[in-house]
Amino acid sequence: MNKKLTIQDILTMKKNGEKVSMLTAYDASFAGIIDATGIEMVLVGDSLGMVLLGYNSTVPVTMEEMLHHCRAASKGVKRALLVGDMPFMSYQVSESEAITNAGRFLKEAGCDAVKLEGGTEVCDTVKAMVRAGISVMGHIGLTPQTASQLGGYKVQGKDADSARKLLQSARDLEAAGAFSIVLECIPAELAEVITKAVSIPTIGIGAGKHCDGQVLVTHDMVGMFEKFTPSFVKQYVNLAPQIKEAVATYFEEVKNGSFPSEEHSFNMQLDVKNLLDE
Ligand code: KIV
Repeated sequence: MNKKLTIQDILTMKKNGEKVSMLTAYDASFAGIIDATGIEMVLVGDSLGMVLLGYNSTVPVTMEEMLHHCRAASKGVKRALLVGDMPFMSYQVSESEAITNAGRFLKEAGCDAVKLEGGTEVCDTVKAMVRAGISVMGHIGLTPQTASQLGGYKVQGKDADSARKLLQSARDLEAAGAFSIVLECIPAELAEVITKAVSIPTIGIGAGKHCDGQVLVTHDMVGMFEKFTPSFVKQYVNLAPQIKEAVATYFEEVKNGSFPSEEHSFNMQLDVKNLLDE
């Protein structure tokens, strides 16, 4: 249970028909809680731009922001494979810049692998990164960094032509050396076909039950991101109202003096009353 998982372990899970689970984490505390459950992969997603940093999309997220949070998450992860998400424009400009940036996730931030968005069009870059010794997870379907080119945050691959392109992208990513592929917001039937067509694990988010694994943004599934919840998210607990209630009670108790009580104070019977007279 405590042995650090490897890329090979994740590939073997598909061969054995064992489902792969992945969740996002952006700091040591969450990463530690998630890791302790046995979840196989922790993703430091660029979704942190929206759920932590308050941006309206993932586009503004920088390399430095990603590395900062990857470094923190890596402190909490002992067993899971830690995947760092490459932010927009960190891998598109040139192959050499992509390798340099991907390498920083491994060398400076403790990640085991990186993820990048895109299909056939990023495969030369993926090949170059894998050749350089970097493990790469692909991400096709709804790719949030380029959502504006896709007509917004919409289900992708709904017609035969775009479904065919997504299938080809998955095959190309496998051929380029990717070790797994996130399938985001595509019809369940198409995800099933893609999953059967490749020998690397597909990790679905809004892509139905036939994928080899599943991923969710942790803040969505625990109810800590209130701006919106995509329809494919199952909320396992709704923490925001509980946190608000706790904070409101604290606020009231500070105001009325009932916090801190004796129990939460250090009372040591010190004779300090006449300190003021000295
Ligand atoms: O940024 C992210 O959290 C992701 C997952 C939703 C797959 O890319």
